[in-house]
Amino acid sequence: MQISLSGIAKSFGTTAVLKGVDLTVAAGEFVTLVGPSGCGKSTLLRILAGLERPDGGRVEIDGRDVTAVRPADRNLAMVFQSYALYPHLSVEENMMTPLKLRDLTRLQRLPLVGPLLARQRYRALRRQVRGAAETLKIEDLLSRKPGQLSGGQRQRAALGRAMVRNPVAFLMDEPLSNLDAALRVHMRSELSQLHRRLATTFIYVTHDQAEALTMSDRMAVMMHGAILQLGPPDEIYNSPASVEVARFVGSPAINLLPGEIDGQGRLSVLGRPFSWAPAAERQPLLVGVRPEHMALAPEGSAQFSGFVRHRENLGADLFLHLELSDGNTKVILRCDPAVLAERTQGGAALGTRVGLSIDPQCLHLFGSNGRRLTSAARDLARIA
Ligand SMILES: Nc1ncnc2c1ncn2[C@@H]1O[C@H](COP(=O)(O)OP(=O)(O)OP(=O)(O)O)[C@@H](O)[C@H]1O
Ligand SMILES: [Mg+2]
Repeated sequence: MQISLSGIAKSFGTTAVLKGVDLTVAAGEFVTLVGPSGCGKSTLLRILAGLERPDGGRVEIDGRDVTAVRPADRNLAMVFQSYALYPHLSVEENMMTPLKLRDLTRLQRLPLVGPLLARQRYRALRRQVRGAAETLKIEDLLSRKPGQLSGGQRQRAALGRAMVRNPVAFLMDEPLSNLDAALRVHMRSELSQLHRRLATTFIYVTHDQAEALTMSDRMAVMMHGAILQLGPPDEIYNSPASVEVARFVGSPAINLLPGEIDGQGRLSVLGRPFSWAPAAERQPLLVGVRPEHMALAPEGSAQFSGFVRHRENLGADLFLHLELSDGNTKVILRCDPAVLAERTQGGAALGTRVGLSIDPQCLHLFGSNGRRLTSAARDLARIA
């Protein structure tokens, strides 16, 4: 079912936390809200869930205005960072709780007596719980208490509890942030698979751009209470609409170099003529280059030169931190360690002077207002 937020505004005291946010999520879509701490992601999700009231704007589910509807009547499932499982109940009982609250009378919910009074109903609920547990591959853990589970298993149990009600959508707020790095990466693929299997809308909040890039159909980059850009991950990565988005998405972060367009439409980077620009208007720029679009080159033919100040070898990738010869610009470039060892003596050791070339087709040009220059950087022709 389509979910749409329009003009959502929210202030706490005098601080405007959300400034008129619009977002429409299609049925079955996986959308991530990503942005730095404090930008308003959780507040937006809580408003969607009905846990917080907006000062202005509308929340619609399947075309129905639910802005004033109670959380319980929105049929959305919320999964938090802290799994909020009941510690004294088994996984099965935890998963059954939302179903009991929805389907049983107060009398039927009583311990001991309830199951005797409503044997059929309990059997049906158990079947539902078992179905969800099978989807999540936690059938064997149903009798355990949360304290007897690993972090990943606990997270799955919390997902299971959210799943049993067949919600219209899953709202997840940093559900993986309590897990260690390896498990987090593993759970990313599990969540993607779960999303495909359930074919239900997922709205996922994270401050981790890698999670957003790897899992979502579309990601919304939020900052200062507004969505700066919304689109598929590759579009956000390859055509960031502003310096802020470019900086936030990608790791290591995009390199930003000072540049300028002169009156003839020529682009210079760090004072060096570089290529033709997509605009003729004279203006200062910030030139963005992703670490993978820079390469070491023989100093004679390279556009820039610098000194190796730090090396981060991750096995498959090597990140070289260079200080350029102008003395105050630092860049990071990504290389293949094997190729690097082959091409450079000593593999660009610390302190050595190296040539740096930049692929002119892969530049991102941002005007002084921080916005991307409209025309595609791919049209740039290199000055011989
Ligand atoms: N109940 C509240 N009362 C006052 N201020 C609040 C309240 N809830 C949130 N805020 C403030 O609103 C801003 C946005 O908070 P929110 O929790 O939405 O951020 P977030 O993007 O989820 O950040 P994080 O990534 O750290 O979870 C923050 O500055 C926060 O301090
Ligand atoms: Mg938050």
